Amino acid sequence: MREIVVSGIRPTGNLHLGNYFGAVRSFVQMQETHDCYFFIADWHSLTTSPKPENIVRSAETILAEYLACGIDPEKATIYVQSDVKEVLELYLFLNMNAYLGELERCTTFKEKARKQPDNVNAGLLTYPTLMAADILIHKAVKVPVGKDQEQNMEMARKFARRFNTMYGVEFFPEPQNYTLSERAVKIPGLDGSGKMGKSEGNCIYLYEDEASIKKKVMKAVTDSGPTVPNSEKPEVIQNLFTFLEIVSTKETYDYFNEKWNDCSIRYGDLKKQLAADIAAFNAPIRERIAEYSANRQLLRRIAEEGAEKARESARRTIEEVRQIIGFR
Ligand code: TRP
Repeated sequence: MREIVVSGIRPTGNLHLGNYFGAVRSFVQMQETHDCYFFIADWHSLTTSPKPENIVRSAETILAEYLACGIDPEKATIYVQSDVKEVLELYLFLNMNAYLGELERCTTFKEKARKQPDNVNAGLLTYPTLMAADILIHKAVKVPVGKDQEQNMEMARKFARRFNTMYGVEFFPEPQNYTLSERAVKIPGLDGSGKMGKSEGNCIYLYEDEASIKKKVMKAVTDSGPTVPNSEKPEVIQNLFTFLEIVSTKETYDYFNEKWNDCSIRYGDLKKQLAADIAAFNAPIRERIAEYSANRQLLRRIAEEGAEKARESARRTIEEVRQIIGFR
């Protein structure tokens, strides 16, 4: 039997290269060796934006992008959270044994409450119980998440243990973190910062074409150039070389590295090459994103089939949970 893996994807916009070399690639690898459930956490997104513009469309966009990156619905179960109502029942049961004090103490809750003081809603408070329900509904043992999710994972383990103790069963396994950041290839930012994020100008999205990639890369921060042969590269320059290492050939990397070392480097040339190589890397993914996005019927079918598989697993769990608590 393969280990069961669950992870939730917050629907917060399009995937960029940093995401690709972080979570997405790990998911694609894990589907080969684990029994994976990946879902789009659309309910969770209501805790911060109660009136989303188009929930269905943004879930479809994410689905298209993950499929384009290689998530295979034959291998992994990919679904939309709100299609699996069994999660809600488990959320309710877990909430009965989740205490105000411990929920209030969560740093993610405190942070979000501070950011949206006019909307400190109960969903925000019980975000960790909904997340625990997402995980426990499939009795997952491994959860690939970022470092920022460690406390939520501790809560999930606590709720699993508490359920087991409360009802005197050994039912839920304690889900372990599978920390993605430790396994990610870190993609540097184009603005000279260490990390590619969503801030303007720092980020290349997977859907972008060569022209727009080039525009961004040409604007990447550099310095005035080396004056001493074989000197150490400052961070902004190292970032560009790190990028070359990931998307270009070794010959290209060596070529520019030599130019750096003998102080004859022209950043404009490096950037042109880098832009072309990023665009070549992106191209097949970009094409698949376009194909999937144009075929909403296919996306809907994939989501529906994923939901059916997820419901099957969820139903098994929730029926046992009802019995354990004492419902027929
Ligand atoms: N809280 C996660 C995040 O912000 C998203 C998420 C929701 C999740 N439910 C989950 C992750 C269950 C893993 C498992 O990234």
